[in-house]
Amino acid sequence: MVHATANPASDAFVFFGATGDLAWKKIFPALQAMVRRDGLDIPIIGVAHAGWDVERLRERARDGIEKHDTLDADAFARLSSLLHYIDGDYAEPATFASLRQALGAAQRPIHYLAIPPSLFGTVVQGLAKAGCAHGARVIVEKPFGRDLASAQALNATLHAVFPEESVFRIDHYLGKEAVQNLLYFRFANTFLEPIWNRNFIDSVQITMAENFGVQGRGSFYEEVGAIRDVVQNHLLQVVALLAMDAPTGRDVEALRAEKLRLFRAMRPLDPREVVRGQFTGYRDEPGVARDSQVETFAALRLHIDTWRWAGVPFYIRAGKNLPISATEVLVDLKRPPIGIFDEIDARDSNYFRFRLSPEVSISAGTRVKKVGEDMVGERVELVARRQLSREKSPYERLLGDAIHGEASLFTRDDAVEAAWRVVAPMVSGVPGLHLEPPSPYAPGQWGPAAAAKVVAAREGWHDPQAEDAAPC
Ligand code: BG6
Repeated sequence: MVHATANPASDAFVFFGATGDLAWKKIFPALQAMVRRDGLDIPIIGVAHAGWDVERLRERARDGIEKHDTLDADAFARLSSLLHYIDGDYAEPATFASLRQALGAAQRPIHYLAIPPSLFGTVVQGLAKAGCAHGARVIVEKPFGRDLASAQALNATLHAVFPEESVFRIDHYLGKEAVQNLLYFRFANTFLEPIWNRNFIDSVQITMAENFGVQGRGSFYEEVGAIRDVVQNHLLQVVALLAMDAPTGRDVEALRAEKLRLFRAMRPLDPREVVRGQFTGYRDEPGVARDSQVETFAALRLHIDTWRWAGVPFYIRAGKNLPISATEVLVDLKRPPIGIFDEIDARDSNYFRFRLSPEVSISAGTRVKKVGEDMVGERVELVARRQLSREKSPYERLLGDAIHGEASLFTRDDAVEAAWRVVAPMVSGVPGLHLEPPSPYAPGQWGPAAAAKVVAAREGWHDPQAEDAAPC
């Protein structure tokens, strides 16, 4: 986002959980990039309870950047000189007294809670009592709750100290260039809007496939499963950007209002339209129960009850250990009413395909006449591809936006709660209905065979391909 906001920028960046995994993998590389690209020069204060000192934190920062990005000696030296470290128990007032001291003359710090949500209450109260919350902003990470009730409780915890406009909830998908482009592409062009509705669109499919398992995060994953991990947040956000109406103005709240209307129009999932799967071998992962019922795959049908979308199924599929890592949206248009030239195959309709990762492209699926005497055709994809090598990472973009008080890529409290209402039947259950256990699937397959039942038989699932192999 361009920082067009009139909000004053934060004048110190504090991050709790400074010795943790997120800081190592994402926060330090993002901070180095912000120093290099934007000249970030505010104090950066890491807080943790690990018995470390600032030297050790600098080493950790260097290691994280070397492993997950590229070290830039000059930018890293500047980042190192901005770094401070406070070691202390989050339950101890002394920790926050030290923080207050380290903040010095800063008037508008931003506090990033890169810590488990169970600690949010302790930390925000500690900040408030020590006078560190006044004029401050707070950034929190997903998972934002594990169901509607816990999300509401977390919101209440944060709001006891920070007003909603000072709370920045990160969903890193919203920081991805390709995800932002969905919104831009829809509303910066005129040709889509007339057809972007139930009259022309047959169905929408979103697949988020990963060709790896839980990567040692078994105990985390046991608490979430695919629906909480990526459907409630990343993929419903993608649906919102694809399906919302145009915002009525440029301001952040206009965008958020339309997204909220869309979330509220999503019908809560019907467990009979959801298939859960679990890859074989998941139960042998460290931290995973031997009889775990947690899904590593989900395929579902979502309905949006608006005049624009009534009757158009939104199919969502996400899973670990699938054949490929790729996230793709396929918007399938209705077939021509009569096949004048050749039989119209169900798979040969027009479509738009948005590749969101790892490559970024937008394609239009068309039919074109084959060279020759006969009026027969073939499918041709018109593809626009982008090279994103110099783009900002989602964390660089989102942390920069939060520091500048630019909220449009962050999720508001009411939208988070509305998204939990949509998945509630799958995460909180439905009285009288027993959830089917997840069906097993072999790693490297597209989930369990039962997933085929979720989509209309004539369509089938569209499996993202390695980009080079995709038809062009
Ligand atoms: C995270 C999930 O939010 O998103 C992970 O917790 C998932 O399970 C990841 O792998 C995917 O994000 P990206 O940007 O790497 O595709």
